[in-house]
Amino acid sequence: MLCLSVLALACSMGSQNQPSETKPSMPAIIPRPVELELQSGTFSIKDSTAILIQSRDPQAKAVGEYLASWLRQRTGFKLPVRKLTNNADSKGHFLLATAGRHLEGGNEAYHLTISPERVGVFAPRAKGLFYAVQTIRQLLPPELESARAAAVAKTKKPLHLPCLRITDNPRYRWRGLLLDCGRHFMSKEFIKRTIDLLAYHKMNVLHWHLTEDQGWRIEIKKYPKLTELGAWRKATRDSEQPRENGLYGGFYSQDDIKEIVAYAKSRFIEVIPEIEMPGHSGGALAAYPELSCTGGPFEVSTRWGVHKDVYCAGDDKTFEFLQDVLTEVIELFPAPFIHIGGDECPKDRWKACEKCQARIKAEGLANEHELQSYFIRRIEKFLSSKGRRLIGWDEILEGGLAPQATVQSWRGLKGAVAAAKAGHDVISSPTSHCYLDYPHSKDDPGYPNWMGVTSLEQIYSFEPTPSELSPEQAKHILGAECNMWTEHAPQDLVDKQVFPRLCALAEVTWSPQKARDWKDFSARMKTHYRRLKSLGVTYYRPPPPPPRAKQP
Ligand code: ACM
Ligand code: ZN
Repeated sequence: MLCLSVLALACSMGSQNQPSETKPSMPAIIPRPVELELQSGTFSIKDSTAILIQSRDPQAKAVGEYLASWLRQRTGFKLPVRKLTNNADSKGHFLLATAGRHLEGGNEAYHLTISPERVGVFAPRAKGLFYAVQTIRQLLPPELESARAAAVAKTKKPLHLPCLRITDNPRYRWRGLLLDCGRHFMSKEFIKRTIDLLAYHKMNVLHWHLTEDQGWRIEIKKYPKLTELGAWRKATRDSEQPRENGLYGGFYSQDDIKEIVAYAKSRFIEVIPEIEMPGHSGGALAAYPELSCTGGPFEVSTRWGVHKDVYCAGDDKTFEFLQDVLTEVIELFPAPFIHIGGDECPKDRWKACEKCQARIKAEGLANEHELQSYFIRRIEKFLSSKGRRLIGWDEILEGGLAPQATVQSWRGLKGAVAAAKAGHDVISSPTSHCYLDYPHSKDDPGYPNWMGVTSLEQIYSFEPTPSELSPEQAKHILGAECNMWTEHAPQDLVDKQVFPRLCALAEVTWSPQKARDWKDFSARMKTHYRRLKSLGVTYYRPPPPPPRAKQP
């Protein structure tokens, strides 16, 4: 049975991957490259093919090894990776070069030339070489993405790449996905797979939401109760029976985090940790209730929504705790940004808290909104002293923005406009276009009524840069991010929410605005769905139409 299916796979790949005399069809690359000129002929990847490196960038060799390993698994060829010693010997091989080339489009650009003689990739940096490799994968049959393809390797059949020239670079420097591991813990393997899928779509930011009312997920050595108590709740949610052992959750050890961050680096992805404050802090407060206004006690929450118990802004203990936590976080995450949340912080407890009121008085603040602003400014000062930049949700605009803060605009793009006009950097993530917890279609069952629909076409139509910004202000829009909140999607359901919508955001953030073409994207997606299937992605498919009523 297995042999037969492997044979069938080999045949199906073989038939699509022959050198062809007929006019080659336009490759269905997602995200669409800036310029693609298809030519006639093919380059054959054979047992004699090598991967030659010409670069001083230490990561270039690693990219060569990454390409070699991917191809070896699918061909059984040796594909040695070696330094180019002289220009003459690149015939018949891949040449990955960063040396001596200047390309427009910044550090992520690449130039790919495939001729019958060689595959040449030129890029300012190894990152561009890596993106060219993702493009090369998409020039091969979709079925090759399957892990089963490894079994076909024994056939040792050449693979054929179409001859072409591609010049490519991203529109935005920030192309992200938020993954909420607070509502549901997800395995280390799942996070690595997510990183691979982001890289495949030339995305470069994993925004890792690590702390929530429903769970604290990151080991902090100085505060062990955060993960002993704060990482576990009694049941998945309050409407369900408690677990037999009374525990649901999990956390990432500092070693797990180092492993994931290193893995992400090898895929040119920055991991931005989010440590929520002052709200969404129930996981921490269950472990250390003395950091709240009332003193608790609290349980790790089993219900969704906004919670009233938050860190006390009047008590210096809160800041001491958060600075200690951030000190360990900074050690683990090399990215220049740390996300501190800042969203959905009800002011009820602060209004009734003597310490918070005393702080308002002592600091000459007008109200609790200014107290939130005080909170964020104080944390920003600390992060700046450690050489890091603060990002927060657009609520951090209320009561006055911290001087260097970057704003992630989620309640529409009003926050994006206000922040960019005030000279602050922005990430655009409005609910209307970027919320992947929302249904794909109004016909999808099982979603709360308040959620809007975020269809594939809606995301594809997204413009991250608001039109009211001047060209100078528009430079503050770093890019966009789609948000995978997981109240209604534990790990097993994440694929269905994220895909294929991530493919649309990848194109929105990578490809030139003028190249946006829904019909063309939809046509390319037909091929891309086959790739996703081969990658084992359980993407969303519209529910079948209801059966027609019988004719009387
Ligand atoms: C958010 O959705 N609360 C940022
Ligand atoms: Zn207080």
